[in-house]
Amino acid sequence: MTMTVATADVRDRADYSLGVDDAERARLLAQCALHRAEAETLLDRIGLDAGDHVLDLGCGPLGVLDLFAERVGPAGHVVGLDREARYLAIARQELDARGFTGVELMVSDATGTALDPASFDLVHERLVLNNVPQPDAVLAEMVRLARPGGHVAVQDVDWLTWTCLPEHPDWDRLRAAAAAVWSGDVHIGRRLPALLRAAGLVDVELVPHMRVFRPGEPYHRLLVRFVALHRERILAGRAMTAAQLDGAVAGLEAHLADPATVTLYATFFQAWGRRPE
Ligand SMILES: C[S@@+](CC[C@H](N)C(=O)[O-])C[C@H]1O[C@@H](n2cnc3c(N)ncnc32)[C@H](O)[C@@H]1O
Repeated sequence: MTMTVATADVRDRADYSLGVDDAERARLLAQCALHRAEAETLLDRIGLDAGDHVLDLGCGPLGVLDLFAERVGPAGHVVGLDREARYLAIARQELDARGFTGVELMVSDATGTALDPASFDLVHERLVLNNVPQPDAVLAEMVRLARPGGHVAVQDVDWLTWTCLPEHPDWDRLRAAAAAVWSGDVHIGRRLPALLRAAGLVDVELVPHMRVFRPGEPYHRLLVRFVALHRERILAGRAMTAAQLDGAVAGLEAHLADPATVTLYATFFQAWGRRPE
């Protein structure tokens, strides 16, 4: 199936703040591998059947589209939606490489899709809600798209636990600087059950996950990457001068390179509920 471009202007609206460069593409694909086992468990809990219709909202360069396609099989219908056409082009390559050629890919904003109401057995997002200024609008659209009795599932983070051990003042400075310029709520994880219920879902479940990273592992330096991506915004906010920012990054890099330093990742929450019949 070919890629559908739903609206010409989606890229003009507030961009995904982490960008769409090759490094971000590689990070997002690595992130799919990182969260694969948890996603499998989530789908086991919800129970997808062959022939189901499923949607991954904000799928990026793969999301969970391969897991969906594997589970619903050729009789099912898998749709991936993202506001970035470039990510969907990568998703097409990734899916082709895995032999999943029937997935439909659509450029659209998640807050207002042209998809038919009540048309999916499962509507899913991962790591989109923490990036958007109006998570309730995305959830409202997800609920609109789920059939009565169907599921809405979200997987998102809460920076509550995101720290390094031993603790370090440059971590605290840079984490605060990144959080201050983030495009969404870095603590959305804890709000997920309430947001799902407010959106009209029932039988809401919540499962948290924790992880530790060590030097050499990809997400050990994630905060440094986020700070680099947001450098201009941080400096524009005038909370730090360029010299202070560079000093903090150098201090943190040295600390993270110490073999005795580990990082605790943000708590990764999975929450899901059912649209009433
Ligand atoms: C951190 S990435 C997560 C990608 C994928 N869900 C995954 O877990 O691998 C966030 C994705 O959300 C997309 N996104 C952000 N805001 C969006 C919006 N309003 N509508 C559609 N997609 C959006 C971005 O383009 C990006 O692909």
